[in-house]
Amino acid sequence: GAGGGMAGRKVLVTAGPTREAIDPVRYISNHSSGKMGYAIARTAAARGADVVLVTGPTELAPPPGVRVARVETAAEMMAAVLAEFDDCDVVVKAAAVADYRVQAPAGQKIKKRDDELALTLVKNPDILAELGRRKQGQLLVGFAAETEELVGHARDKLTRKNLDMIVANDVTLPGAGFGADTNIVKLLYPDGRVEEYGRTAKDELAGIILDKICVLLTNRH
Ligand code: C5P
Repeated sequence: GAGGGMAGRKVLVTAGPTREAIDPVRYISNHSSGKMGYAIARTAAARGADVVLVTGPTELAPPPGVRVARVETAAEMMAAVLAEFDDCDVVVKAAAVADYRVQAPAGQKIKKRDDELALTLVKNPDILAELGRRKQGQLLVGFAAETEELVGHARDKLTRKNLDMIVANDVTLPGAGFGADTNIVKLLYPDGRVEEYGRTAKDELAGIILDKICVLLTNRH
C-alpha cells in the first residue's frame, strides 16, 4: 500500500539520456542527468521491489540493491527493456530517449571541410509506445518533459502510448527538469485526474510516484 512494501514486485526503470553516434568520436544526446530515474530505482529497491535499471550514460553511482544494465543507444535500450518486460509488474520510463538517430554514422572521424555539413536523421522506435502495445497487465508509467502546452502534450502521450500514469514536467521552470535536484510535476491518469506537486526534491518525488503506483496496483489486483 501507500508508503509500504513492494516485495514481490518486479520494477523496471529506465533513466538517463541515450547517445546516437555521428562518427566514432561524436554523438547526439540530451541534458538528462538520470537523477529522477535513479531516485525511483533506489526507492523501489529500498521498499523491497526486485528492480532492474536500464540506464544510458550518467555520472551517477548505481543504486544499492538494483540490477543495472548499461546501454548507449535507443536501439540498445529497446533491446534491454524488451528482454525484461514480460515478467514485470511495473515499468517506469524516466529515460530521455533520442527521438532520432543518424541514418549512416561515419566509420571514420568526419573531417572539417565544407562550411555546411548535413546529417540525415531517421526516427528511433518509441520504446514506451511498443510496451503500450505489448502490455498484459504491466503498469506503465511515462514521463513527459515539455517546454509548452504541458498538460495537453502529456495527456496526448498518456493516451497514445497506452499508459497508466504520466509524470509531466515543464523543463523551462527553474527548479524543474534536467540536472536539477528538484522537480515540479503534474501526475496525469487515464480517467482525467491531474495531481499537482510544487517544487519537490527528486528523492521525495520518487517516493510519491511509487506511492501512487502502489495505489494503482492495489486497485487493479
Ligand atoms: O519523447 P517523449 O516525450 O515522447 O517521451 C515520453 C515518454 O516516452 C518517456 O517516458 C520516454 O522515456 C518514452 N520514450 C521511449 N522511447 C522513445 C521516446 C520516448 O520510451 N523513443
